[in-house]
Amino acid sequence: MLWVFDSWFGGFQTLKYLQNKFPDFDFLFYADNANVPYGNKSPKEIEELTFKWLNYLFDNGVKLVILACNTASAYSIKKWQKLYPEKKVLSVTIPAVEKIIEKWYKKVWVFATYATVYSDIYSRKYFEITWDFIDFYQIPTPKLVDLIENQVEDEEIINNVISLYIEQLPNDVEALVLGCTHYPIYLKNFKKYFKKDIIDPSQESVEKLVEYFRKHNDIYESIWKNWKTKIVETGERKIESSEYNVK
Ligand code: DGL
Repeated sequence: MLWVFDSWFGGFQTLKYLQNKFPDFDFLFYADNANVPYGNKSPKEIEELTFKWLNYLFDNGVKLVILACNTASAYSIKKWQKLYPEKKVLSVTIPAVEKIIEKWYKKVWVFATYATVYSDIYSRKYFEITWDFIDFYQIPTPKLVDLIENQVEDEEIINNVISLYIEQLPNDVEALVLGCTHYPIYLKNFKKYFKKDIIDPSQESVEKLVEYFRKHNDIYESIWKNWKTKIVETGERKIESSEYNVK
């Protein structure tokens, strides 16, 4: 089984990408919707919650967790990998930074939660890999999280919020990172107002996973392949899985 963790809605999108790429895999999506949104919590709370759930998942015999939540990654991945190098957790933020490097972008905007912006994760990771700086402009876009969490589908409302955020971007920006798992749910609305490259960290991560499995065949082999998906939501509110086209 391949385990995916997120605070909630956005993880369904990550799961969809994974199912398309690896249709025969068994997935377990663990959504901590009892504690969503992570993006408005303190660094300490985010780290504690993420560690709590990762420990729980690994105690249940999991071999690899895809940490789909940008906010959780920002405050836990480095420490986790240092403390538990054998308990493999892949964060979606790093493949997004690798994409920026591959494309030689020099001016990049990041839309993310308050906590992710505050953590400066994208520019820190860029520096850790390249020892160089580029212009990262990061703005918190929490209204988008609210819309998605409240399952707003009114195109006019969605477009208004997105266009107001996009208007803040200067003309010479080369790419926009949707630095929150939730945002790609509105990808077509973003594309309407932003005509340059849009980087979706979950999508990039799924592409990189193919490479990862090539290097870690033991992990690939350990994943059950019965075409099954299970969803666990920690909160009272549940999602109708059919809405998100989850098998
Ligand atoms: N999953 C979170 C992220 O990717 C967004 C929602 C939240 O604030 O929990 O940052």
